[in-house]
Amino acid sequence: MQFILQQLCPKEQEGNVIFLYGDEVAERNLPLNKKEVEYLKVRRAADAKAIVAFDRLPYKIYVVNFDSEQPANVSQENLRRSAGKVVEMLAATKEESVVVTGEGLIPEEMVAFLEGMELANYSFDRYKNSPKHHLLTVFVDDTFLSQEELNRNLRLWNRIYWCREWVNLPVADFNAEEFASELEDIANDLGVKCSIFDKKQIESLRMGGLVAVNKGSVDEPRFVVLEYKPDSAINAQPLALVGKGVMYDTGGLNIKPDDYMQEMKSDMAGAATMASVLFAAADNNLPVHIVALLPLTDSRPGFNAYAADDVLTMYDGTTVEVVNTDAEGRLILADAIAYAVAAYNPELIIDAATLTGAAVRAISTFGIAAMQQHAENPFSLLKIIGNQVYERIAEFPFWPEYDKMIESDVADLKNCGSAQAGTITAGKFLAHFAKSTPYIHLDIAGVAYFTKPQDYFCHGASGYGIRLLYAFLQTYDMVNG
Ligand code: BES
Ligand code: ZN
Ligand code: ZN
Repeated sequence: MQFILQQLCPKEQEGNVIFLYGDEVAERNLPLNKKEVEYLKVRRAADAKAIVAFDRLPYKIYVVNFDSEQPANVSQENLRRSAGKVVEMLAATKEESVVVTGEGLIPEEMVAFLEGMELANYSFDRYKNSPKHHLLTVFVDDTFLSQEELNRNLRLWNRIYWCREWVNLPVADFNAEEFASELEDIANDLGVKCSIFDKKQIESLRMGGLVAVNKGSVDEPRFVVLEYKPDSAINAQPLALVGKGVMYDTGGLNIKPDDYMQEMKSDMAGAATMASVLFAAADNNLPVHIVALLPLTDSRPGFNAYAADDVLTMYDGTTVEVVNTDAEGRLILADAIAYAVAAYNPELIIDAATLTGAAVRAISTFGIAAMQQHAENPFSLLKIIGNQVYERIAEFPFWPEYDKMIESDVADLKNCGSAQAGTITAGKFLAHFAKSTPYIHLDIAGVAYFTKPQDYFCHGASGYGIRLLYAFLQTYDMVNG
């Protein structure tokens, strides 16, 4: 979708117009006659979020009502959602372009609406002989934002598109090696440092988790480290972003039953998210030193696959009893987290992972299940930002009692606990490897991939979490002080 900033006079538009209507005062500028205004009032009174379309054949005027009296985050999210609906309406009649203007709204509300339009306009078309119709051009009233501000947002949204594309690709066309080389190409373009460890190097680093999960696969694993270190960096020690990169999760020998396996191509969404956040930071020159650590492999029940009862020695020497091969994500993440601590001494580690089905059962698809260890302050900030951008995080308890649930009889830890508190014990397992480094765990299993369209997300990968972490980086100096 192309956005073009323009000086506009709403009353004189030729073509489709979207008018964002924040309060009654805005009425005087609507290109509507008296009767239409009366009708709009009735619809608005019945539903403050109503979208009302007026025919101006062959075009339409779409009046998007919103309530500017709502808390800022709510009215912005409502605007994103309305944008999603309008994009759907425009697609239904195969419109190519539209003008967006409005009155009674602040710049942030306009940006939220454009964001919703862009995010809703995505679909995964790569394998379609006749791709879906997309809205092409959006003319935006330039009283609301500058070209520079628009460009910065476009670069962020572009990263969300890339992330979705990676996550939507099936493993047959996108394995660990291919993902790694794609990351390397982008890193080279952006001047981001990229180190790729292949199977031999991963073995000699003694990353016992990543090696084990890869054993049943014919494809090699990769461990990718991206480093963005601007001269202007405000942090003395890097921020480490760790992402789960299971290119496909069959479950391994504890194979996933029938329809539980489908859509497990999305099990590398954590890695895709973290790479996208780092690239967005580099695109927009954010003054934060960041490393992204991405363990990549598929998990298969092949010939030499790792098995329950195996005992693994992880990168940091911790021994782990495998109880269930389907709890594979924490094994590859543990190595990456331990490596982050040893190699980078980061001031904060955040991981993102499609880690547990239990997270989805606990809070459904409306937010991220999150935990923290030694990271109260950055966690509080992240929570506030999550509410602002509406990629919300829900804090789960991290009481010491949960540690007992992953104690093993034969090793230091076991890779899963009982049927209870599965999201928390997974987080506890990872927290062990962060040691005293401030650590935040984001379980994105419920939000990374939607099995049906939701708001401004289509069926499939969402890129959820990128806006959250990017906004967190923008305000990072607040934690860093
Ligand atoms: N990738 C899955 C978690 C998952 C499930 C993500 C559904 C998205 C949707 C993970 O590797 C897994 O299989 N977890 C197991 C853990 C269990 C064996 C302790 C789970 O959640 O069932
Ligand atoms: Zn699994
Ligand atoms: Zn998994």
